[in-house]
This record gives sequence, structure tokens and C-alpha cells, in this order.
Amino acid sequence: MADLTKSGILNALKKVEDSNFNRDLLILNSIKKFEVKGNDLYLDFSVAMPLGAVTDSLKEKFVNALKSEFSALRKVEMNIETKVIAHHDKKKDSILPGVKNTIAVASGKGGVGKSTVAVNLAVALAKDGASVGLIDADIYGPSIPLMLGLKEKPKVYQNQQNMKIIPLANYGVKVISMGLLVDDNAPVIWRGPMASGAIKQFMSDVDWGELDYLIFDMPPGTGDIQLTLVQTIPLTGAVIVTTPQEVSLIDARKALKMFSRVNVPVLGIVENMSYFIAQDTGKKYDIFGTGGGSRIAKELDTEFLGGIPIDPGIRIGGDNGVPMVYDNPDSEHSKIITAISRDLVSQINMRNLSEGSNSKIEILLDDDQ
Ligand SMILES: Nc1ncnc2c1ncn2[C@@H]1O[C@H](COP(=O)(O)OP(=O)(O)OP(=O)(O)O)[C@@H](O)[C@H]1O
Ligand SMILES: [Mg+2]
Repeated sequence: MADLTKSGILNALKKVEDSNFNRDLLILNSIKKFEVKGNDLYLDFSVAMPLGAVTDSLKEKFVNALKSEFSALRKVEMNIETKVIAHHDKKKDSILPGVKNTIAVASGKGGVGKSTVAVNLAVALAKDGASVGLIDADIYGPSIPLMLGLKEKPKVYQNQQNMKIIPLANYGVKVISMGLLVDDNAPVIWRGPMASGAIKQFMSDVDWGELDYLIFDMPPGTGDIQLTLVQTIPLTGAVIVTTPQEVSLIDARKALKMFSRVNVPVLGIVENMSYFIAQDTGKKYDIFGTGGGSRIAKELDTEFLGGIPIDPGIRIGGDNGVPMVYDNPDSEHSKIITAISRDLVSQINMRNLSEGSNSKIEILLDDDQ
């Protein structure tokens, strides 16, 4: 087949439409190797997307796209490799050398569901094949241990230079939280610098190993403590959680401004408590109004990652330490959260790709395997 070239294959694959697949992340260097034997094509390519997002239906679309572009093809055998593109940043690489990306889950207003979203996103990413860590950056009101069903005290060991804490792990997510280190009922009365000191230790003194994503569940608010924290953590980007109502949107705008002041990109908005569907009647109620999250995303020129409804199961999952996406992965809610996590990954990969020049991009993709 005369016109079967790397760029021909690339162009064919780029025609595929699928909610999990971002064609802009497929570049010429993604096509690793191909061989034509008679009318059969053997193809190796890599794409920056979660392993779990490479579904059978997506694979079928790839095959069909190739067959419709190259009509003589009879059999297509593909080997698809997935990868995470790392965020390269001097500060991050020195504090967290094994961590490819760091994400803050933040909001202006308290109680909008940051911790719930952070936990479910972390578990969704892990389920999709990523290595994930979660830092409970809410030193004053840690809720991650409860939400992930963790109670033990983390173990500590001594290496050549210093003490290292071994993070606890559940549902494929490594976790550290002040809630694991101090007694449940002891209030933490610390000042701002101590909070950022604790977060620094959570980054440098915890044995995170290699991680694709390290998520930070931020404390509510946009005051000095939060500002200090976002300056302390070398962030790839932030996700802002809001409910649809105006009082939460005002604070979401403040949060976005806080991140832009310190040059941290906002990767997108998650609307939580978007609506409620009554189980008995199936009727939908817009308890906190409607459309606020997508409106603010447009206004602030960032991605609307999706809306998570109010659901007793999400609350119960949090209280019982078994996150919805783990406990009931096939539920509508889990599918929504998984879709949000995949869109987030796509936003991160796009940012990391566009960080460098074109030539650097090609090298990056080869390096990051
Ligand atoms: N989509 C949802 N459906 C039902 N309950 C929810 C949902 N999202 C969050 N909740 C519940 O709302 C409460 C507040 O959520 P969460 O603790 O995640 O908020 P937060 O923004 O982290 O709060 P804080 O500002 O105090 O850190 C929790 O009891 C949680 O279980
Ligand atoms: Mg919280």
C-alpha cells in the first residue's frame, strides 16, 4: 500500500471521535512502529491518556478509521501504549522528583465538596491505571482519613539522610493527612506558616515514590493561609470546585484570581451538587440553581469539567470511607466522576505538551514513557 506512511496513519487516527480521545495529543512521534505484511497492518503507537480510557469501542474506532482510510487493509493489529506527560518545573522536580503532576483541588467557599471531589477523582484516576497520591492540605480540618477509611498511624523509617514517612494507601491511592498523625479530638491550633511547614514536610518527608498525579485537597478560603500554601506547593494546576449558586461562584472567582496571582493555571471547574434526582419519582430538582459552573468556566476562560449531582450514596461513601467510584463504579455518578477525571488528564497533558517548543514536545513524548 503505497500511501501507508506514518503521517497517513496519524491522519487516519486523528479522525476518530470519542469522548475519551483527544486527537491533539496524538502527534507524529506517537506512531512508534508499523509494518505491512500483505494486506495486514501491525501498528505500535502511544497516546497520552489513561489506560482505562482505551476502551474496546475506542480501539474499534481506531481500526475502522484505518480501514476506511486504507481500503486495501484486511487486518489491523494494534499495540497501544498509554503515557502520562510530566510537568517539568524546577521547583517541583527538586521537591517531588518522582511526581509527574501536582493538582490542587480548591474552592473559595467551604463545604462545597472539595474533599469529596478530591477523593473520588483520586480513586477514579487510580482505577484508570494511574499511580496517585493524595495530600490532605487541610491541616485544620482533615477529612481525607475518614473519607478513605484510614485509621492507622503511618510508619516511619530512617534512610541515610533523614526520616521518611510511608504514606498509607487505600483503593490504590497513597495518602498523608494531619488526621493520621494527631489524635482525632485534638484541635489543631496552628498559624499559617506552620500549616505551610506541615505541607512542606508532607511533600519532602513522605516516601511518595513514583506518582503520575499528586492531588492536594486544599482548605477552604482564599486568605493568607491558602495563598501561602499555593506558593509553597509547586503546582501543575488547580481544579476549582463550586456549587451552582451565586454565593459559591463569587468565591470560586476569588479562588481563580488567587491561582492566577501566583501563575498557577486553573485546569477547570467542577460543579458539585449540580442537581438532585429523587429516587422515588425520578424528578430532577435544581437545588442550588443551574448552569452556574459552566457559566463561570466560560467567564473565566477555563474548562468546565462536569457537574456531579447530589446523591445520598456520595455522602454515605464519604462517611463510611468507601468512595462512590470504588464502591459502585457502574453508577451514573461514578461515570460522571470518571469522565471528569479523564477530561482533567487531557487538560493536564495538553498543558504539558504546549509548555515546550514543538521540537521539545517530540522529545518529551519519547522521554516520558
Ligand atoms: N455530590 C454530593 N452529594 C451528596 N453529598 C455530598 C456531595 N458532595 C459532598 N457531599 C457531602 O457534603 C459534605 C461536605 O463535603 P466536603 O467535606 O467534601 O466539602 P469540602 O468543600 O471539602 O468542605 P471543607 O470546606 O470543610 O473542606 C460532606 O458531608 C459530603 O459527604
Ligand atoms: Mg474539605
